[in-house]
Amino acid sequence: MTAEITITKPDDWHLHLRDGDALNATVAFTARQFQRAIIMPNLAQPITSAELATAYRDRILDALPAGSNFQPLMTLYLTNNASIEDIRQAALNEHVFAAKLYPAGATTNSTNGVTDVAALAPVLDEMQRSNLPLLVHAEVTDANIDIFDREQAFIDKYLLNIRRDFPELRIVLEHATTQQAVDFVMANDHTAATLTPQHLLFNRNDLLAGGIRPHNYCLPILKRETHRLALVKAAISGNPKFFLGTDSAPHATNTKESACGCAGCFTAHAAMELYTEVFEREGALDKLEGFSSFFGPDFYRLPRNEQKITLVKESWSAPDAYSFNSQTLTPFRQETPLLWALK
Ligand code: NCD
Ligand code: ZN
Repeated sequence: MTAEITITKPDDWHLHLRDGDALNATVAFTARQFQRAIIMPNLAQPITSAELATAYRDRILDALPAGSNFQPLMTLYLTNNASIEDIRQAALNEHVFAAKLYPAGATTNSTNGVTDVAALAPVLDEMQRSNLPLLVHAEVTDANIDIFDREQAFIDKYLLNIRRDFPELRIVLEHATTQQAVDFVMANDHTAATLTPQHLLFNRNDLLAGGIRPHNYCLPILKRETHRLALVKAAISGNPKFFLGTDSAPHATNTKESACGCAGCFTAHAAMELYTEVFEREGALDKLEGFSSFFGPDFYRLPRNEQKITLVKESWSAPDAYSFNSQTLTPFRQETPLLWALK
């Protein structure tokens, strides 16, 4: 008999869908496996108000396959100009669920990000007051800090202060990549982290040893094996502070296979298949449902989903590329067959 596992339909708590025609390529992949997703606001024109978030949500809904009841959960992009009023409007809006802090220059479309974290205090205070979670891209951007140390440096320099100054603010350390991030999350109340498939499956050798592999390049960058092991341990621990967030981040193939390639792994074509592989390998399939389907909604104070999905132990290979506007999109880990399939 084929092995299979049925779990409550999962949600993706960190997702990039892009905008315009790209939505026709991206939305369906996520809607196929997930009930809801936290939609990242880092468009070329960032989503800085509830009004922009609502309009973006409508464009996402327009791109949904017929019959899908997928729900995009919108977020606000914090800039130096974010105001208390912006936060109030966001907190009142039924479609906005969080605000995201990008340090300026940390990643794709972050030029409008925050340059002075300390100056954000009144905004964070209002977020704490109005119960809007803070999502953090936790990496410093200082040119003199080694790229492999940037997450830990951000925790030490900024996140500990934010945590201390706003004790009731719910904080998600997005796409955690280090032991230090795991330790920070474990040590603090109202603090959680999302974990991506690529950081659970791969270490920096998969990016750099034996040739550079641009489709494994994302930010925060893949770290050494000890960190990957710490993330896997957190994911399978059953600790509700750690939950699923793919950070699926589509970039056209030619923009990644380039002299200066874009950061982001496209995993939405097989996200649950990849996570299931991790949990199976660790003998922890019984912990997959909490991580994928319970701890995220619990943290966001949303109901758990009622539908179910089934994954079957059945090997398949993703295509070399999917079409993406007039270009192509190379799926993450295309070179190795997937071990699980969504039924
Ligand atoms: C993301 C993107 O392309 O939007 N890229 C990435 O490498 N993860 C942005 C982000 O989440 O850092
Ligand atoms: Zn992201």
